[in-house]
Amino acid sequence: MTLLERLKLETGPAHERIETAMDLDRRIATRDGYRDLLIRFYGFHAAWEEAAGAAAPDRDFFERRCKTRLLARDLAALGLEEDEIIRLPQCDPLMPLHSSAAVLGSMYVVEGSTLGGAIIAREVERRLGLDAGTGCAYFRSYGRDIAAMWKQFGSVLLEASSPDTDDVVVATARETFGVMHDWLCEAP
Ligand code: HEM
Repeated sequence: MTLLERLKLETGPAHERIETAMDLDRRIATRDGYRDLLIRFYGFHAAWEEAAGAAAPDRDFFERRCKTRLLARDLAALGLEEDEIIRLPQCDPLMPLHSSAAVLGSMYVVEGSTLGGAIIAREVERRLGLDAGTGCAYFRSYGRDIAAMWKQFGSVLLEASSPDTDDVVVATARETFGVMHDWLCEAP
């Protein structure tokens, strides 16, 4: 089994759990609910990008995939001021991200979420009429390049796969699902 297959298998239940707990139908039913959901995503990605970026295996590869700026753009389009956005609560604690293997495991979850994001973006457009320019840039993420970006991420992950570090990759992916679940689904 490849590392990607193992990740999909071993985090499958965590994916199902977060998909159910996110209660998307309710949260994107109104513009205010959708804005509050993006605020939680912002708090996760802003904290995560700072921590993960420090241990990322390749800075360029990492930075091209950063999503906080898309969230900031969406929140501004939905009426938040720049200084309000900067002061939004950030996710704490995060999963440990001390090695490049840990970062890759965590990135598997963050990059994989763009696949579901494309579906969510279509729903947000249908229900709230928002597109990438008017408040839905985050869920649109890489636009037409989503599949290509996912494929490229998979190649980098498989190249880095090794019996010494694969367990750390998988453990960190599971922890990342846990942190995202608690932060996104148990918001006060
Ligand atoms: C923050 C929440 C979410 C996270 C972290 C997440 C994470 C992931 C990950 C890691 C994958 C890659 C699985 C693989 O190895 O192929 C994935 C795939 C996918 N996710 Fe999610 N997901 C989330 C929410 C959702 C939601 C709400 C939906 C449904 C609307 C969804 C639908 C999908 C779909 C359709 C795929 C592609 C499955 C495939 O092609 O095999 N996800 N997601």
